Parts: sequence; structure tokens; C-alpha cells
Amino acid sequence: MVLFVKRRTLCIRALFTIGIFFLCVLFQNALIHPFLKTSVDFPGGGLCACDKCVTDLNDTDWFFTRFNPTVPFLLNRRNSALRPDVYRWWKGLQRETFNVSYTEVVDQMFSLFPDEEHYSDAGPDRCRTCAVVGNSGNLLRSNYGPLIDLHDVVIRINRGPTKGYEKDVGSKTTHRILYPESAVDLENSTHLVLLPFKIKDMRWLVSAFTARQITRTYIRVRSTVNANKDKVMIIHPEFIKYVYESWLQKHGKYPSTGFITLIFALHVCDQVDVFGFGATDAGIWHHYFDRSLTYFNRGSHGGDFENKTINELLLLNKISIHKGW
Ligand code: C5P
Repeated sequence: MVLFVKRRTLCIRALFTIGIFFLCVLFQNALIHPFLKTSVDFPGGGLCACDKCVTDLNDTDWFFTRFNPTVPFLLNRRNSALRPDVYRWWKGLQRETFNVSYTEVVDQMFSLFPDEEHYSDAGPDRCRTCAVVGNSGNLLRSNYGPLIDLHDVVIRINRGPTKGYEKDVGSKTTHRILYPESAVDLENSTHLVLLPFKIKDMRWLVSAFTARQITRTYIRVRSTVNANKDKVMIIHPEFIKYVYESWLQKHGKYPSTGFITLIFALHVCDQVDVFGFGATDAGIWHHYFDRSLTYFNRGSHGGDFENKTINELLLLNKISIHKGW
């Protein structure tokens, strides 16, 4: 009898827990979907003024269980405090001991660079078209240059040059996503967007615009870059974790720069066109500008899973991909 009562109590507890779990899921959807739906009733039926908007709602749940519009994508003083789980995860990516105060570095950064809330202007009147330009060798002989330059925003990644490759990759660069080890000089009109994989990357950014004392991370890095200080932006560490967990479901150790850039574009643009993504048939990441070859599945990134996710975004019409040759 006692055993029966115990079992019944256990069953009731299990049912209660499952009930709470489903309520949480329902509640989460109830929070996120209406937020997105607020402007869906505008004429044209979209959340933006383009023909097709990234956040159009006529899709399966696949997109909206991954896309979280409330995640901070660019850092500023007000959103800079990191939740303990974010701080721990981010710290886990770093090869150095974390003996520098994060809040001090944030302070230094935002006394130098714009402390703004960027891209909070989404709405039914906005149609921001973006080209995300990766570094794949498939850009060579593509003649995509003029098409890429037609976009309002052209985001390039790491070292990918334009000079000498204009016909295939275009000449406009509104944003360049980089980290110290991949830094290059920028035009005055280009936003330098730092992707901080470690706190030293933030210190390097400050140093590059001031005393230039940091010349090494885990390899030698440039002590400075030519770039417009007033156009500097910094990706939020929480955004990197979000891309890893929500979009990559923890495949690999952390997402590739290209993949983070693509998801970043989904958050700041209304229409996303992807160029220069794609390995060779042998699974090698080749570049259009040098002879470096990396097996994309052997490093820290979940290359295959990134590709699958990108393909799903394509199938759902969230992005278009220009595959080149
Ligand atoms: O090689 P790198 O990291 O500078 O390239 C930037 C991004 O371009 C990569 O993170 C990847 O997403 C994309 N890429 C690609 N196929 C290649 C080379 C690069 O998809 N062959």
C-alpha cells in the first residue's frame, strides 16, 4: 500500500513537471511570436518594406525556434553586463587566463568608440538589403561585383580583399567583421565590426586605436589598423553563444566567422543575399585571393552542420545564395 501511494505521488509529480514544461514552452512562444507579429498586419503583409522579409511569418516553426529577436547583437554600455552562463561559456573559448576585468575593458572601449544602440530601426517602412560576402574561391569568375555593390549593406569577412577582384566581389564594403588575427586596413567609410572570441580581442581593439602596445595574441598580430574610430562596432559575446546554441545546436566548438556574420545579417537586415560561401567538392575552404586551404570539418567549427543550417535557411526563403562557379 505504501509503495502504491509512493508510486502515485511520483506519477503526480512527473505529470506536474511535464505540465510546467509545456506551459513554459507555450509561454515562450506566446512571448516571442506576438512580438514579431505586431507589425505583420501592415499593408503588404510583411514586417518590412521589401517583397520578402527575413522575419516574415509564413514559415514553419523551424526558423522561429532558432531566431530570437531579443538577443543583443552589438555591445554597448547598457547591455554589456554578461549573464554568468554567457561569461562562463565565453571564457571557455579563451586561450588565456582571464585576469583582466571585463567591465574595465568595456569602459575603455566605450570611452573611445560609439556607445550606441545600433539597428533598432526595423519596421514596415524599412527595406534594408544586405550582401554577406564570404571568402570562397567560388567567387572567382563569378562577375557578381555589380550585383553585390547594389546592396545597401555589404558585409565582408576577415581579409577578403576587393582591390583587384572588383569584377567578382564588388568594391563596396560597409562593414567588415574581423578579429585581431585577421585584421586588415579599412576604408574610412567602413564599419570595423570586432568579433571578440576573447577578452584580449577587446583589449587589442583599444590598443590598436591608442598606445598600440598589443602585438601578440596567440600569434603575432598587427599593432594597429587604419579604420574610422567612429564607426567601430563590437559583436556581443552573448550573440556568439546564441549562434552556437540556437543555430548550431552546439555542433563544433564555436561557430565560424562566416556563419556568425550570416546570422548577424538576419538580425540587422530585411533581405539577405549570400555570396562567397562554399567549399570545394573535397570539403576544403579555399579563398578567392590566396592559396590557403582548410578542411572546414576538421577545425573547431561544425562545418557540415553550418552547411545544413544554411541550406535550410535557403529552403525557407530566408536567404538567397549565389553559388558562383
Ligand atoms: O577563411 P575565412 O574564415 O576568412 O572565410 C570567411 C568565411 O567565408 C568562412 O567563415 C566561411 O563561412 C566562408 N567560406 C566558405 N567557403 C570557403 C571559404 C570561406 O564558405 N571556401
